[in-house]
Amino acid sequence: MKRDLISMDDLSAGDIREYLELAEQVERIPHADKGSRLLGRILMVMFFEPSTRTRLSFESAMCRLGGSVIGFSESMITSVAKGESVVDTIHTVENYADIIVIRHPKEGTARLASEISYLPVINAGDGTNQHPSQTLLDLYTIKKFFGKINGLRIAFVGDLKYSRTVHSLIQALLKFPRQNFLLVSPETLRLPEYLMRDDEDAATFSETTGIEEALSTCDLIYMTRIQKERFPDLVEYEKVKDSYCIDTGMLEHAPDSLRILHPLPRVNEISYSVDRTTYAGYFQQVRNGLFMRQAILLKLLGESI
Ligand code: CP
Repeated sequence: MKRDLISMDDLSAGDIREYLELAEQVERIPHADKGSRLLGRILMVMFFEPSTRTRLSFESAMCRLGGSVIGFSESMITSVAKGESVVDTIHTVENYADIIVIRHPKEGTARLASEISYLPVINAGDGTNQHPSQTLLDLYTIKKFFGKINGLRIAFVGDLKYSRTVHSLIQALLKFPRQNFLLVSPETLRLPEYLMRDDEDAATFSETTGIEEALSTCDLIYMTRIQKERFPDLVEYEKVKDSYCIDTGMLEHAPDSLRILHPLPRVNEISYSVDRTTYAGYFQQVRNGLFMRQAILLKLLGESI
């Protein structure tokens, strides 16, 4: 049976641990020693939304493992511009590759692709819903920083309503016990209720609109961009767009062990001066994406490292 990566909801805690272990093995082996693992395999990239990290790191991961990449990052240069459906596009491109990675603004498109295609499908982000490969690299980064992915106090800051990276990551973390979440957002961008499972053993959630508590009491701050493109009404975006920006002054009394992650791109949520401090974990997070995405490709294509 083919394997897909569509939603963190589909993975057990054991599946997540397997991905983390595989990424660790991938990272330990020099690029030159794993350059033929996916020789002859082709990755199809279908990006209907802009991307820098997800697309390029999947492409790099495939190339580093000896495979090849074809596809598009601008759907209007494909026959979609002439009115072709996503379904017909998938039935066409599956003849040309061994695995598909797809990003689409509409929730559920990656699931649809996985149901109609005989190839393994990776969800590279579907609207405000899920971004599972980002979540796996986030978990890998958290594990590297703290040696564990539970028992931490984690603040999620910014757009908790529309952020698929936050939704995916919270769903994944809830599979492990003793989570302690602080949700920091403007009133209009609160985390959807369905993600809040307040159960003493699994997780505790608290909510606030100010960032101060996160800076002084948390192990980890997961910053997010307020996503202009997700707002149905730009007047509402204007009201909240600059709600949070961490600068070095605000970190003066933060514990040395605090780490700040961000899925990126950032607009102005974290000042550039923070990049030079030990708090900044977001570029290590980017680098970890390469190892995790190699692990994902290997696993879904049934290869070992
Ligand atoms: N984190 C993330 O998904 O980045 P891109 O939009 O650049 O792929």
